[in-house]
Amino acid sequence: MTADVTTTAAWATLSKLHDSFAPDLRGAFAADPDRATTLTRTAGDLHVDLSKNFLDADVLEALVALADEVGLAERRAAMYAGERINVTENRSVLHTALRRPRTDSLVVDGVDVVVDVHEVLDKVYAFANKVRSGEWKGVTGKPITTVINIGIGGSDLGPVMVYEALKPYKQAGLECRFISNIDPSDVFEKTVDADPETTLFIVASKTFTTLETLTNAKMARWWLLDALKRAGAVDGSDAQDAEAIAKHFVAVSTALDRVAEFGIDPANAFGFWDWVGGRYSVDSAVGTAVAVAIGPDNFADFLAGMNAMDVHFAETPWAQNVPALMGLLNVWYVNFFGAESHAVLPYAQYLHRFAAYLQQLTMESNGKGVRADGTPVTTATGEIFWGEPGTNGQHAFYQLIHQGTRLIPADFIAVATPAHGIRCDGADVHELFLANFLAQTKALAFGKTADEVRAEGVAEALVPAKVFKGNRPTTSIMAPALTPSVVGQLIALYEHITFVQGVVWGIDSFDQWGVELGKALANQIAPAITGDAAALAAQDASTQGLIAYYQAHRAR
Ligand code: F6P
Repeated sequence: MTADVTTTAAWATLSKLHDSFAPDLRGAFAADPDRATTLTRTAGDLHVDLSKNFLDADVLEALVALADEVGLAERRAAMYAGERINVTENRSVLHTALRRPRTDSLVVDGVDVVVDVHEVLDKVYAFANKVRSGEWKGVTGKPITTVINIGIGGSDLGPVMVYEALKPYKQAGLECRFISNIDPSDVFEKTVDADPETTLFIVASKTFTTLETLTNAKMARWWLLDALKRAGAVDGSDAQDAEAIAKHFVAVSTALDRVAEFGIDPANAFGFWDWVGGRYSVDSAVGTAVAVAIGPDNFADFLAGMNAMDVHFAETPWAQNVPALMGLLNVWYVNFFGAESHAVLPYAQYLHRFAAYLQQLTMESNGKGVRADGTPVTTATGEIFWGEPGTNGQHAFYQLIHQGTRLIPADFIAVATPAHGIRCDGADVHELFLANFLAQTKALAFGKTADEVRAEGVAEALVPAKVFKGNRPTTSIMAPALTPSVVGQLIALYEHITFVQGVVWGIDSFDQWGVELGKALANQIAPAITGDAAALAAQDASTQGLIAYYQAHRAR
């Protein structure tokens, strides 16, 4: 039976600490001038200031004790070694192997997985170089200018986020687009102005069974062949269609047999393994679009950044271990302060898809109601992750974080050197941006008292509305710049934070059964929409009513 964290001594200690804990960040900083230094940690290139959290020496000690009592070190070792810790799917969890250096070795079930990883990486890099140099040509002999990745979930969110984050590293003249939604508008918008002669599709699907991706890939194939035919580039014969597909479609999957069935030459397919979870796969061949855009050297730096964080997580004592501390703090907020959501607020426009990426990573991993052994969880699990880049969020939802009734711990992320050091009216605009980053974390921590408001001459009736209670916990993460390595470090940081929380809660963070029911029902309901009377009769009254509305209002 999975150990019940709520029965541990550390849990009891945390519970006691919580009962007498009166958050007072102003007081804590006033009492200890060294607080910021004492509670700042370094992981790789990341400077992580934990001082504006509900943290003191006693809480830190209890959180570290909790890590020990739940066997975090053993679980971490089991994951890194390739033990089948994804118990409900009976799989190893080896995304950390994807970024191990070539000189490493890790034998799992008799296979050195590091050798396999680098074999595929070499193939991806060779392909990326061919596309980047123009050696890879479309069916009419033109080089590729547009790469369209077709995938969903982990086969989309990671590649999009990293492509956007590392846009300054992209090769000029090469553009990536991403199709994920089965809403045909997505395919339409991404192909409407694309030139079929210079467009290459990457169909990314771990299973190569995902309805959305296969449907989108079929639509893309149809679009390509039709457009090429209309341009007179192919004559519509099977042979020329096959040649066009070979030059304009590659695939990424663990199921190379299904890739071949789809009509993509397995020679143009990049494999990975069932021990890579979809949401942990951007550092596998799933990142091929990114490798093409930023090039093999930058992609290798990205992987090295992830590996640096893996090493930090593996080797650093808990009290200094950034992913462990951030994961344990999340547990502290979720389970003792009732926090339900967690904001991630990058002050870096290029990280504008980071929160969307984190939503799958964290919520598909830790949104579980049973523990690894199938017994019900004994405490709240998961957190709702969300966010937007600052400063946009400031003018939208920060009001609720500052003055609302909910506790929303937030991670703020910023870099010292921006990609574009633009000045305006004599000011370095990045410094104005950073002033906002610093101002927000300061306001959230320390607030503004009624006396401070009054001192500004505010009418008494308005004082309550202008008071900021403060004591809104934040973590500030700073890095030198948004390099490929730093983006890799950030991803691995959150992967390990997610892992730590999952271990504390005793859940399997690596399965995702919760997405299956909807998929199965969609398959049952599809015929009801298209007119199958028996399928319609089998539906509940609400579903029938909605289908009736659809049928009455669908314009054709
Ligand atoms: O349905 C959820 C999910 O299985 C995710 O875990 C995964 O990232 C996504 O679908 C896409 O799956 P695939 O890469 O197999 O198409």
